[in-house]
Amino acid sequence: MEEMKRGHGIISYDDLKHYTAKERQATVFDYEKSYQVLTMPLPSSGGVLLPQMMRMAEQQPIGQYGFESLKSVHLMTEIERLSYADRAKFLGDRDYFKVPVKTLISYPYVIDRMKAYDPDHAGNSQSIGPGQVAPESEETTHFDVIDHEGNAVSVTTTLNGGYGSRTVVGGAGFLLNNEMDDFSIKPGVPNMYGALGGDANAIAPGKRMLSSMTPTIVLKKGKVFLVVGTPGGTTITTSVFQTLIDILDFKMSADEAVNQPKFHHQWMPDIIFVEQGFSQSLMDSLRQMGYQIKVREAIGRTEVIEVHDDGSIEAVGDHRGEDSAAGY
Ligand code: DON
Repeated sequence: MEEMKRGHGIISYDDLKHYTAKERQATVFDYEKSYQVLTMPLPSSGGVLLPQMMRMAEQQPIGQYGFESLKSVHLMTEIERLSYADRAKFLGDRDYFKVPVKTLISYPYVIDRMKAYDPDHAGNSQSIGPGQVAPESEETTHFDVIDHEGNAVSVTTTLNGGYGSRTVVGGAGFLLNNEMDDFSIKPGVPNMYGALGGDANAIAPGKRMLSSMTPTIVLKKGKVFLVVGTPGGTTITTSVFQTLIDILDFKMSADEAVNQPKFHHQWMPDIIFVEQGFSQSLMDSLRQMGYQIKVREAIGRTEVIEVHDDGSIEAVGDHRGEDSAAGY
């Protein structure tokens, strides 16, 4: 503390008292089948960059190029450029920021990244940016079906978090969910989607947890008009709400309603979350009104079937994922 005072530092005795070391799992990966590499995980970027760089190198005959040959230095430089571009965008403390580690070090991803490598020319950091990483999926699935007689189903099924409770039932081959997270464990403590709750959704024997799943069918004059739904945790209800209003009130096509940037508010946190591409001028005006706005990753993966007045059917799979629509 003497030193802090002397240097006009801001670290207090309390800061030191509240600091605790965290024990983390080492990063472990194979290199060229014969080696297993163990290294430091996040929050050191080494735990992501090293496997990423080694896996990029593994795809090339680097051993033949020789130590500090033109070829090996060029190759390794380009690999380092690619990894550091990813570091700038994706890496940070996982306790605070969702880092797509699995994707970043996966072979399909690194092989795809290496398409930017030109063995004959130096790369250029202005044109080589971070890779495209689809957000690591959470585990809810939605689908809509309509048959030639006009019977419709809208189905949402959830494991809740990625891989649920990460337990595959031996011999049966399905995953157990982690739906207990959809209960409110105590007032004021949010679940993984930031939802708060109290006694109404407290854990009790035999009780079912509150969900946000909103598989929906809209009838017009008694006949199926829309079949709608999406995954997305707490954004499910607001996405379905927004999609219906877009179609029913703003007269948007199903495709526009699904694929235009979405927004979401869930009381707490008191923030309007918007997707990238949401109108900048609208954000400015909302901020002037006193709103807090935060741009976030994609909201939901909404699917819609719309039956037009002439009986023709329009089916839309959300462009945010690899969703698709098919007719038979
Ligand atoms: O039932 C619910 O509200 C949650 N289990 C849904 C989680 C979810 O949508 C995650 N997938 N995107």
